[in-house]
Amino acid sequence: MKNTLIIGTLLFSGITFLGSCTNNDDSAQITEEKVIEEVVEPQPEVNYLETGKGLAMQTKASLGKNLALAINERGSDGAVEFCNIEAIPITDSMSIVLGAKIKRVSDKPRNANNQANEAELAYINSWNAAKDKGEEHLPLLTELDGKMVGYYPIVTNQMCLQCHGTPEKQINTKTLSKIKKLYPADKATGYAEGEIRGIFVVEMNKN
Ligand code: HEC
Repeated sequence: MKNTLIIGTLLFSGITFLGSCTNNDDSAQITEEKVIEEVVEPQPEVNYLETGKGLAMQTKASLGKNLALAINERGSDGAVEFCNIEAIPITDSMSIVLGAKIKRVSDKPRNANNQANEAELAYINSWNAAKDKGEEHLPLLTELDGKMVGYYPIVTNQMCLQCHGTPEKQINTKTLSKIKKLYPADKATGYAEGEIRGIFVVEMNKN
């Protein structure tokens, strides 16, 4: 559309210029050109990156709210069970409510079902590389099998470390034994604040 406008404008000024030294027929062309510009209305473009971000943030808020409630009620060891049973169903239910496919994946998953695939790992690796250089790394949008797919980093804060930090230091013994029991192959400990714990992957249909 931008190109059309520019071409349109060039034609228009060209014609106006020519019009000043040729015959009167050009006035008809000028009108025609104007009409074309008025008819071709620009379609509002969907900003998939921002739409996906909104969906990821709503899912994050829902998970966060329920996690905080569980920790308050049952402590961090009790909340491990909450995450074990509820994290994926809550994420899935948000997919239904929000009309997109949303998942949480990681390069070092606690639940093996949340293992990141190759493309997702590439994003996580590039996020880490940017962090090492002190640069900001933005969310990413790609098109996969005709769908728009957004990647949004999930970064740790202090609160996460009671279940994802250093065993026995930040993760207490009771919580650690719950984690080990439910996830014998757990890879999701040893994190510090401000690290990438995983990503939200939001798959949207193209409009
Ligand atoms: C009460 C303990 C607890 C706290 C606190 C906690 N998590 Fe987790 N986290 C878990 C458990 C348990 C799972 C596995 C859930 C499952 O089975 O789907 C998990 C899974 C995840 C996953 C999905 C990938 C994976 O490893 O399976 C991400 C991402 C994640 N947590 C990020 C965070 C972030 C970020 C915070 C802080 C804002 C946080 N967690 C706080 C216990 C916790």
